[in-house]
Amino acid sequence: MNNEAGANVKVDAETIVETMPNGPLLVYGNVTVKDASGNLSKKNNVTAFCRCGGSANKPFCDGTHKKIGFEG
Ligand code: FES
Repeated sequence: MNNEAGANVKVDAETIVETMPNGPLLVYGNVTVKDASGNLSKKNNVTAFCRCGGSANKPFCDGTHKKIGFEG
């Protein structure tokens, strides 16, 4: 990986992405998430990413979408 989004990234395995109605984006597979500061965190199996914008733990879902009645 480098600092440009998507540039020089080698993909070794197929990943499934599922949009949950009124909820997060689920990514099935083993992924590495790089934050804006360049910190990497590895996630395995299923990772839920926030789509509602309300999570206190972005980019991950923390369940806030239910509390705020997110529709989308
Ligand atoms: S989608 Fe779950 S907190 Fe935003």
